[in-house]
Amino acid sequence: MAPQATLKHIPVLSNEVLSFLEIKPAGKYLDGTCGLGGHSEQILSKLSPNGFLIGTDIDNEAIDIAKTKLKKVGDNFHIEKCSYSQFPDVLNKLNIDKVDGILLDLGLSSLQLDSKDRGFSFMRNASLDMRFDLDSKIKANDIINRLSEVELADIMYHFGEERMSRKISKNIIKNRPINMVSELVEIIRISTPPNKRNKTMSRVFQSFRIVVNNEIDNLKKFLKKYISYIKVGGKIVIISFHSIEDRLVKHSFKSSSNKGVLKILTKKPIMASEEEKNFNKRSRSAKLRCAIKL
Ligand SMILES: C[S@@+](CC[C@H](N)C(=O)[O-])C[C@H]1O[C@@H](n2cnc3c(N)ncnc32)[C@H](O)[C@@H]1O
Repeated sequence: MAPQATLKHIPVLSNEVLSFLEIKPAGKYLDGTCGLGGHSEQILSKLSPNGFLIGTDIDNEAIDIAKTKLKKVGDNFHIEKCSYSQFPDVLNKLNIDKVDGILLDLGLSSLQLDSKDRGFSFMRNASLDMRFDLDSKIKANDIINRLSEVELADIMYHFGEERMSRKISKNIIKNRPINMVSELVEIIRISTPPNKRNKTMSRVFQSFRIVVNNEIDNLKKFLKKYISYIKVGGKIVIISFHSIEDRLVKHSFKSSSNKGVLKILTKKPIMASEEEKNFNKRSRSAKLRCAIKL
Protein backbone atom coordinates (compact mmCIF):
# COMPACT_ATOMS: atom_id res chain seq x y z
CA MET A 1 0.00 0.00 0.00
CA ALA A 2 2.68 2.51 0.95
CA PRO A 3 4.62 2.60 -2.36
CA GLN A 4 1.42 3.13 -4.36
CA ALA A 5 0.23 5.88 -2.03
CA THR A 6 3.67 7.48 -2.29
CA LEU A 7 3.47 7.46 -6.06
CA LYS A 8 -0.01 8.97 -6.03
CA HIS A 9 0.90 11.74 -3.61
CA ILE A 10 1.38 15.08 -5.36
CA PRO A 11 2.37 18.02 -3.15
CA VAL A 12 -0.17 20.82 -3.38
CA LEU A 13 0.79 24.26 -4.77
CA SER A 14 4.43 23.18 -4.84
CA ASN A 15 5.65 25.83 -7.33
CA GLU A 16 3.99 28.53 -5.24
CA VAL A 17 5.47 27.12 -2.01
CA LEU A 18 8.99 27.19 -3.46
CA SER A 19 8.63 30.60 -4.97
CA PHE A 20 7.31 32.12 -1.72
CA LEU A 21 9.91 30.41 0.45
CA GLU A 22 12.77 31.62 -1.85
CA ILE A 23 15.04 28.89 -0.51
CA LYS A 24 18.52 30.09 0.44
CA PRO A 25 20.99 27.26 -0.29
CA ALA A 26 22.58 27.54 3.16
CA GLY A 27 19.31 28.27 4.96
CA LYS A 28 17.43 26.30 7.59
CA TYR A 29 13.82 25.37 6.89
CA LEU A 30 11.07 23.72 8.91
CA ASP A 31 8.40 21.62 7.23
CA GLY A 32 5.95 21.24 10.12
CA THR A 33 3.71 18.71 8.35
CA CYS A 34 6.24 16.83 6.24
CA GLY A 35 3.82 13.96 5.51
CA LEU A 36 5.18 11.88 2.65
CA GLY A 37 7.98 14.38 2.13
CA GLY A 38 6.69 15.86 -1.13
CA HIS A 39 7.39 19.51 -0.29
CA SER A 40 10.37 18.56 1.90
CA GLU A 41 12.02 16.77 -1.02
CA GLN A 42 11.74 19.91 -3.14
CA ILE A 43 13.08 22.14 -0.38
CA LEU A 44 15.98 19.78 0.34
CA SER A 45 16.93 19.61 -3.33
CA LYS A 46 17.42 23.42 -3.30
CA LEU A 47 19.70 23.35 -0.24
CA SER A 48 23.48 23.12 -0.38
CA PRO A 49 25.22 20.76 2.08
CA ASN A 50 25.38 23.79 4.42
CA GLY A 51 21.61 24.13 4.49
CA PHE A 52 19.35 22.07 6.74
CA LEU A 53 15.78 20.84 6.66
CA ILE A 54 13.83 19.98 9.81
CA GLY A 55 10.62 18.01 9.40
CA THR A 56 7.89 17.12 11.88
CA ASP A 57 4.83 14.89 11.52
CA ILE A 58 2.85 12.70 13.89
CA ASP A 59 2.24 9.79 11.53
CA ASN A 60 5.01 7.18 11.84
CA GLU A 61 4.17 5.54 8.53
CA ALA A 62 4.41 8.86 6.68
CA ILE A 63 7.68 9.69 8.45
CA ASP A 64 9.27 6.42 7.29
CA ILE A 65 8.24 7.12 3.70
CA ALA A 66 9.50 10.71 3.90
CA LYS A 67 12.87 9.64 5.33
CA THR A 68 13.40 7.09 2.54
CA LYS A 69 12.50 9.72 -0.05
CA LEU A 70 14.72 12.42 1.43
CA LYS A 71 17.76 10.15 1.83
CA LYS A 72 17.91 9.96 -1.95
CA VAL A 73 18.32 13.76 -2.09
CA GLY A 74 20.74 14.42 0.77
CA ASP A 75 21.51 13.75 4.40
CA ASN A 76 21.23 17.31 5.71
CA PHE A 77 17.80 16.82 7.25
CA HIS A 78 16.20 15.66 10.48
CA ILE A 79 12.65 14.39 10.77
CA GLU A 80 11.05 13.88 14.15
CA LYS A 81 7.74 12.53 15.30
CA CYS A 82 6.34 15.60 17.00
CA SER A 83 3.32 17.86 16.61
CA TYR A 84 4.17 20.99 14.66
CA SER A 85 2.64 22.88 17.57
CA GLN A 86 5.63 21.67 19.66
CA PHE A 87 8.28 22.42 17.01
CA PRO A 88 10.47 24.57 19.35
CA ASP A 89 11.36 21.35 21.24
CA VAL A 90 12.86 19.90 18.06
CA LEU A 91 14.75 23.12 17.25
CA ASN A 92 16.13 23.25 20.81
CA LYS A 93 17.29 19.66 20.53
CA LEU A 94 19.12 20.51 17.29
CA ASN A 95 20.55 23.75 18.77
CA ILE A 96 18.78 25.82 16.15
CA ASP A 97 17.53 29.24 17.34
CA LYS A 98 15.76 30.46 14.24
CA VAL A 99 14.95 29.24 10.74
CA ASP A 100 14.71 30.95 7.33
CA GLY A 101 11.27 29.62 6.58
CA ILE A 102 8.42 27.49 7.89
CA LEU A 103 5.87 25.56 5.86
CA LEU A 104 2.61 24.02 7.09
CA ASP A 105 0.48 21.98 4.69
CA LEU A 106 -2.47 21.16 6.92
CA GLY A 107 -5.04 18.39 6.78
CA LEU A 108 -4.52 14.80 5.79
CA SER A 109 -2.31 13.14 3.22
CA SER A 110 -3.28 10.80 0.39
CA LEU A 111 -1.63 8.01 2.37
CA GLN A 112 -4.04 8.58 5.23
CA LEU A 113 -7.15 9.14 3.10
CA ASP A 114 -6.47 6.04 0.99
CA SER A 115 -5.57 3.83 3.95
CA LYS A 116 -7.68 0.65 4.15
CA ASP A 117 -7.87 0.50 7.91
CA ARG A 118 -7.72 4.01 9.38
CA GLY A 119 -11.29 5.09 8.74
CA PHE A 120 -10.65 8.54 7.18
CA SER A 121 -12.73 7.92 4.08
CA PHE A 122 -16.45 7.18 3.87
CA MET A 123 -15.69 5.17 0.73
CA ARG A 124 -13.80 2.37 2.54
CA ASN A 125 -15.20 0.31 5.38
CA ALA A 126 -12.87 0.20 8.36
CA SER A 127 -13.05 0.86 12.07
CA LEU A 128 -13.79 4.50 12.89
CA ASP A 129 -10.28 5.44 13.97
CA MET A 130 -9.18 8.66 12.16
CA ARG A 131 -6.06 9.26 14.26
CA PHE A 132 -3.07 10.84 12.50
CA ASP A 133 -0.98 9.72 15.47
CA LEU A 134 -1.57 6.03 16.17
CA ASP A 135 -0.01 6.48 19.64
CA SER A 136 -2.74 8.90 20.71
CA LYS A 137 -5.67 7.48 22.66
CA ILE A 138 -8.92 8.95 21.38
CA LYS A 139 -10.40 7.48 18.20
CA ALA A 140 -13.39 8.73 16.23
CA ASN A 141 -15.65 5.98 17.60
CA ASP A 142 -14.82 7.05 21.19
CA ILE A 143 -16.12 10.52 20.39
CA ILE A 144 -19.14 9.29 18.45
CA ASN A 145 -20.14 6.83 21.19
CA ARG A 146 -19.47 9.05 24.23
CA LEU A 147 -20.61 12.59 23.45
CA SER A 148 -24.14 13.90 23.87
CA GLU A 149 -26.55 14.52 21.00
CA VAL A 150 -25.98 18.28 21.24
CA GLU A 151 -22.19 17.94 21.36
CA LEU A 152 -22.14 15.68 18.28
CA ALA A 153 -24.43 18.02 16.35
CA ASP A 154 -22.22 20.98 17.28
CA ILE A 155 -19.10 19.19 16.00
CA MET A 156 -20.72 18.48 12.63
CA TYR A 157 -22.11 22.00 12.42
CA HIS A 158 -18.97 23.91 13.45
CA PHE A 159 -16.27 21.81 11.81
CA GLY A 160 -18.26 20.45 8.86
CA GLU A 161 -20.76 23.30 8.33
CA GLU A 162 -23.29 20.48 8.00
CA ARG A 163 -26.91 21.70 7.99
CA MET A 164 -28.35 18.25 8.70
CA SER A 165 -26.19 17.92 11.82
CA ARG A 166 -29.11 17.67 14.27
CA LYS A 167 -30.88 14.90 12.39
CA ILE A 168 -27.66 12.94 11.92
CA SER A 169 -26.83 13.35 15.59
CA LYS A 170 -30.28 12.14 16.65
CA ASN A 171 -29.84 9.01 14.52
CA ILE A 172 -26.34 8.43 15.89
CA ILE A 173 -27.74 8.42 19.43
CA LYS A 174 -30.53 6.01 18.44
CA ASN A 175 -28.13 3.55 16.81
CA ARG A 176 -25.10 3.61 19.12
CA PRO A 177 -22.64 1.97 19.49
CA ILE A 178 -21.18 2.89 16.10
CA ASN A 179 -17.72 1.51 15.46
CA MET A 180 -17.42 1.07 11.71
CA VAL A 181 -17.31 3.48 8.77
CA SER A 182 -20.22 1.58 7.15
CA GLU A 183 -22.39 2.17 10.25
CA LEU A 184 -21.80 5.93 10.20
CA VAL A 185 -22.40 5.99 6.44
CA GLU A 186 -25.74 4.24 6.98
CA ILE A 187 -26.76 6.77 9.66
CA ILE A 188 -25.94 9.62 7.25
CA ARG A 189 -27.86 7.82 4.49
CA ILE A 190 -31.06 7.53 6.55
CA SER A 191 -30.74 11.13 7.77
CA THR A 192 -30.28 12.94 4.46
CA PRO A 193 -31.86 13.30 1.02
CA PRO A 194 -29.93 11.53 -1.76
CA ASN A 195 -28.79 14.60 -3.66
CA LYS A 196 -25.42 15.93 -2.49
CA ARG A 197 -25.27 13.11 0.10
CA ASN A 198 -21.60 12.51 -0.69
CA LYS A 199 -20.84 16.11 0.26
CA THR A 200 -22.55 15.52 3.61
CA MET A 201 -20.50 12.33 4.07
CA SER A 202 -17.26 14.29 3.45
CA ARG A 203 -18.30 17.07 5.80
CA VAL A 204 -19.28 14.71 8.64
CA PHE A 205 -16.10 12.64 8.31
CA GLN A 206 -13.99 15.80 8.14
CA SER A 207 -15.61 17.23 11.26
CA PHE A 208 -14.88 14.15 13.39
CA ARG A 209 -11.31 13.94 12.02
CA ILE A 210 -10.69 17.56 13.03
CA VAL A 211 -11.83 16.85 16.59
CA VAL A 212 -9.98 13.49 16.94
CA ASN A 213 -6.72 15.18 15.96
CA ASN A 214 -7.20 18.51 17.79
CA GLU A 215 -6.49 20.21 14.49
CA ILE A 216 -7.78 23.66 15.39
CA ASP A 217 -6.06 23.76 18.79
CA ASN A 218 -2.73 22.72 17.25
CA LEU A 219 -2.93 25.51 14.70
CA LYS A 220 -3.83 28.06 17.40
CA LYS A 221 -0.88 26.94 19.55
CA PHE A 222 1.50 27.17 16.59
CA LEU A 223 0.27 30.64 15.56
CA LYS A 224 0.96 31.95 19.07
CA LYS A 225 4.65 31.05 18.99
CA TYR A 226 6.11 30.66 15.49
CA ILE A 227 7.19 34.25 14.76
CA SER A 228 10.05 34.39 17.23
CA TYR A 229 11.59 31.31 15.60
CA ILE A 230 11.84 32.90 12.13
CA LYS A 231 14.82 35.07 11.15
CA VAL A 232 14.19 38.62 9.93
CA GLY A 233 13.47 38.27 6.20
CA GLY A 234 12.33 34.65 6.70
CA LYS A 235 8.99 33.39 5.46
CA ILE A 236 5.94 31.64 6.85
CA VAL A 237 3.80 29.70 4.35
CA ILE A 238 0.58 28.00 5.45
CA ILE A 239 -1.70 25.93 3.22
CA SER A 240 -5.11 25.23 4.72
CA PHE A 241 -8.14 23.30 3.51
CA HIS A 242 -10.79 24.47 5.94
CA SER A 243 -12.42 27.87 6.36
CA ILE A 244 -11.80 27.91 10.14
CA GLU A 245 -8.08 27.31 9.62
CA ASP A 246 -7.80 29.87 6.83
CA ARG A 247 -9.56 32.44 9.00
CA LEU A 248 -7.22 31.76 11.93
CA VAL A 249 -4.16 32.19 9.68
CA LYS A 250 -5.56 35.35 8.11
CA HIS A 251 -6.35 36.98 11.46
CA SER A 252 -3.04 35.95 12.99
CA PHE A 253 -1.06 37.39 10.04
CA LYS A 254 -3.14 40.60 10.20
CA SER A 255 -2.56 41.07 13.89
CA SER A 256 1.22 40.52 13.51
CA SER A 257 1.25 42.87 10.54
CA ASN A 258 -0.52 45.55 12.62
CA LYS A 259 2.20 45.12 15.27
CA GLY A 260 4.86 45.63 12.56
CA VAL A 261 6.48 42.20 12.94
CA LEU A 262 5.21 40.66 9.72
CA LYS A 263 4.44 41.82 6.19
CA ILE A 264 1.67 39.92 4.44
CA LEU A 265 2.67 38.82 0.91
CA THR A 266 -0.70 37.34 -0.07
CA LYS A 267 -3.51 39.89 0.27
CA LYS A 268 -5.89 37.19 -0.89
CA PRO A 269 -5.09 33.50 -0.42
CA ILE A 270 -3.41 31.80 -3.38
CA MET A 271 -5.48 28.99 -4.90
CA ALA A 272 -4.42 26.21 -7.26
CA SER A 273 -4.60 26.85 -11.01
CA GLU A 274 -7.38 25.15 -13.01
CA GLU A 275 -4.71 22.84 -14.41
CA GLU A 276 -3.55 21.76 -10.94
CA LYS A 277 -7.15 21.36 -9.75
CA ASN A 278 -7.76 19.00 -12.67
CA PHE A 279 -4.91 16.65 -11.95
CA ASN A 280 -4.82 16.95 -8.16
CA LYS A 281 -8.27 16.82 -6.57
CA ARG A 282 -6.88 17.64 -3.14
CA SER A 283 -5.68 21.04 -4.40
CA ARG A 284 -9.25 22.21 -5.09
CA SER A 285 -9.88 23.58 -1.63
CA ALA A 286 -6.28 24.57 -0.83
CA LYS A 287 -5.59 28.16 0.26
CA LEU A 288 -2.03 29.36 0.65
CA ARG A 289 -1.06 32.39 2.70
CA CYS A 290 2.48 33.73 3.09
CA ALA A 291 4.13 36.48 5.11
CA ILE A 292 7.68 37.72 5.70
CA LYS A 293 9.15 38.44 9.13
CA LEU A 294 10.18 42.11 9.55
C1 LIG B 1 -1.35 17.29 3.70
S1 LIG B 1 -0.28 16.24 4.53
C2 LIG B 1 1.28 16.93 4.18
C3 LIG B 1 1.84 16.48 2.89
C4 LIG B 1 3.25 16.96 2.63
N1 LIG B 1 3.31 18.40 2.50
C5 LIG B 1 3.84 16.31 1.42
O1 LIG B 1 4.09 17.00 0.43
O2 LIG B 1 4.06 15.10 1.44
C6 LIG B 1 -0.53 16.73 6.16
C7 LIG B 1 0.32 15.99 7.15
O3 LIG B 1 0.23 16.69 8.39
C8 LIG B 1 0.34 15.75 9.42
N2 LIG B 1 -0.16 16.36 10.64
C9 LIG B 1 -1.43 16.57 11.03
N3 LIG B 1 -1.46 17.17 12.23
C10 LIG B 1 -0.17 17.34 12.61
C11 LIG B 1 0.46 17.89 13.75
N4 LIG B 1 -0.26 18.41 14.75
N5 LIG B 1 1.79 17.91 13.80
C12 LIG B 1 2.54 17.39 12.79
N6 LIG B 1 2.00 16.85 11.68
C13 LIG B 1 0.66 16.83 11.59
C14 LIG B 1 -0.46 14.58 8.93
O4 LIG B 1 -0.08 13.41 9.61
C15 LIG B 1 -0.09 14.56 7.44
O5 LIG B 1 0.97 13.68 7.20
